[in-house]
Amino acid sequence: MNAQWKEIPQIRCMLPADLDGVIAVEHEVFLFPWTHRNFSDSLNAGYHCRVLEQSGHIFGYGVMTIGADEAHLLTLSIAAGWQRQGWGEKLLQQFICIAREHHAKSMFLDVRESNRAAAKLYERIGFRNIAKRKDYYPAMGGREDSLVMELML
Ligand SMILES: CC(C)(COP(=O)(O)OP(=O)(O)OC[C@H]1O[C@@H](n2cnc3c(N)ncnc32)[C@H](O)[C@@H]1OP(=O)(O)O)[C@@H](O)C(=O)NCCC(=O)NCCS
Repeated sequence: MNAQWKEIPQIRCMLPADLDGVIAVEHEVFLFPWTHRNFSDSLNAGYHCRVLEQSGHIFGYGVMTIGADEAHLLTLSIAAGWQRQGWGEKLLQQFICIAREHHAKSMFLDVRESNRAAAKLYERIGFRNIAKRKDYYPAMGGREDSLVMELML
C-alpha cells in the first residue's frame, strides 16, 4: 500500500478523545486560547461540537450553542497548515445546516475587530455586522473590541 495514502478529510462530532488534538490547534492559532476545560465543558453541556479530521489528525473544529431560535457560534478554527483551502467555509456551512435543522432563525458570533481574515469569511457567507462589544477580548497590553455578526437563517 502507498505509504502516502490518506483518508478523505471528514467533519464529525467532537469526542473527549479529540481534545488533545483540538488544544494543539487552539494553541497554534490563538494568542488567548480556550482551555481543555472550556472544550470539555462544551461537550458535557451538549453544545454542538464538530471536528475536521484526516486519518486521526484533527486540523479544525468549532463549537456552537442553540437556544430558543438563536444559534451562537462560540469558536471556529483551522490549523495553520490547512488554512485558505476552503475548510473554514465548509465547517461553517455545516454549523449553518445544524442550526437550520434545529429551527434557529439566526446565527450570531463575535469576532475580534482586528481579525479581518475571519470577518471576510463571515461576510462572504452573508453575516452582517450588527454591533460592537467594547473590550470584549483580552489582547496584548489591554483589551480589544468584538464585532457582533448575525446571519439570518
Ligand atoms: C478564520 C479561519 C477559520 C478561516 O478558515 P480557512 O479555512 O482558512 O478559510 P477558507 O479557506 O474557508 O476561506 C474562505 C474565505 O474566507 C476569506 N478568508 C479566509 N482566510 C483569509 C485570509 N487570511 N485573508 C483574507 N481573507 C480570508 C476569503 O474570502 C476566503 O475565500 P478565498 O480563499 O476564495 O479568498 C482560519 O483562518 C482560522 O482558523 N484562523 C485562526 C482562528 C480564527 O481566527 N478563528 C475565527 C475566530 S472568530
